[in-house]
Amino acid sequence: MTTADMQGMPPAGDGPSGTAADVTLTKERRGAAGGEAPVVSVRNLVKHFPIRSRGITRRKIGDVHAVCDVSFDIYPNETLCVVGESGCGKTTTGRLVLHLVEATAGEVIYQGRDLTKLSGGQMRPLRRDMQIVFQDPFASLDPRMTVNEIVAEPLRIHGLYGRGGAGRDAVRALLKQVGLNPEHGNRYSHEFSGGQRQRIGIARALALKPKLLVLDEPVSALDVSIQAGVINLLEDLQAELGLAYMFISHDLSVIRHIADRVVVMYLGKIVESAEAEELFGRPSHPYTQALMSAIPLPDPVKERERQRILLTGDVPSPVNPPSGCRFRTRCPMFANELNNDQREWCVNVEPALEEKFAGHTAACHFAEVRTNILEVGATGQTVAPSLARWPVGVPSDEEASRPMVCMPNAPRREPQRLSRNTEVNEEGELVIEGGS
Ligand SMILES: Nc1ncnc2c1ncn2[C@@H]1O[C@H](COP(=O)(O)OP(=O)(O)OP(=O)(O)O)[C@@H](O)[C@H]1O
Ligand code: SF4
Ligand SMILES: [Mg+2]
Repeated sequence: MTTADMQGMPPAGDGPSGTAADVTLTKERRGAAGGEAPVVSVRNLVKHFPIRSRGITRRKIGDVHAVCDVSFDIYPNETLCVVGESGCGKTTTGRLVLHLVEATAGEVIYQGRDLTKLSGGQMRPLRRDMQIVFQDPFASLDPRMTVNEIVAEPLRIHGLYGRGGAGRDAVRALLKQVGLNPEHGNRYSHEFSGGQRQRIGIARALALKPKLLVLDEPVSALDVSIQAGVINLLEDLQAELGLAYMFISHDLSVIRHIADRVVVMYLGKIVESAEAEELFGRPSHPYTQALMSAIPLPDPVKERERQRILLTGDVPSPVNPPSGCRFRTRCPMFANELNNDQREWCVNVEPALEEKFAGHTAACHFAEVRTNILEVGATGQTVAPSLARWPVGVPSDEEASRPMVCMPNAPRREPQRLSRNTEVNEEGELVIEGGS
């Protein structure tokens, strides 16, 4: 697939310094499929941000449950995309991977060491290997520094700038590598366009020859016509340098183009994860299906025919996430397709992230493959035998009162039983029909 195939993205570079837009995705089998060891392995990561009272005592009065039980691997030469709505914990997960925030629980294994246990001093030499590119190329570059100074700064901090012009040559080479004119290195960042500024940010991130780049919405702040040039650059650099990318985005159209594997997050948890082709071909979680149904189709006829899955209501507060499945207050399947016995599973029992096909995991008690979301009129709805193993009856008291994974010490919850006349209203709330 070329960049031109990406929906909504014309095959354009970003001005004179843009790279050619006809880069094809001739990716070899990567990651676990390529038999390589992961660059980084994330296991059961949890992040709670404490909420404190105002005033002198600043008592802890609650927690923002930003990331809950998140696990994944990132392999060399691979792009792992993390997608989800605003506030679902993407940035926090990226910052946890780089140990820029302290984890509440869990591990980040890099070269056999758990980064979450390392001090600032122990982390410093490892920081060279892991860099971040931020969303906003306007805010992330110091306006008082020239481009040369911005790109040279990490080299200077790590004592690698070198003498006798070696550092200057390195900076020139980096600017050239990201498609910028090295002659413009003595200009200030505000003299550049958005796409060019993002290239400066990438050059800076590459200065220390990292193994892993966390790219936090790297193209979201850019015009659509400029996004393609930056994405092509990232693909070129990956092919050239074998970089591992953790690519954070809320835009499935971009992810469809660039991802090798995808992790879908909702309210701090992974709800589905698979290789990109598998995930886009066989989305199994109702949330992923809803996100995918919003991807514009290039064929106007198919676009008109297709059915959008609209999610109603707001994302619940991460301070007090819903019991059981966190998605249940917005899940169209919960509201429209399940009976009350089945709903008791969603309300009371946290669905585990389970393998539904080889390498394809989803966290839904009633996961169901849909193959007709991006291929209108194609194969329709199918149910794989492995997915048809839905729970039967209602959960036992023991199953329904288990603490949530991220709150193992929380007091025992009383199971919520649903009577026959319980209904789901438009806000996704459970209401007793005829009740007040
Ligand atoms: N330093 C902090 N203190 C308290 N809460 C925080 C902090 N940082 C993030 N949060 C909260 O954690 C949750 C996850 O935030 P995060 O920024 O990781 O989401 P995101 O998926 O990156 O969202 P966006 O798409 O808007 O960037 C949000 O509810 C956010 O308000
Ligand atoms: S577990 Fe229930 S509420 Fe959650 S996604 Fe599946 S069907 Fe919807
Ligand atoms: Mg973010």
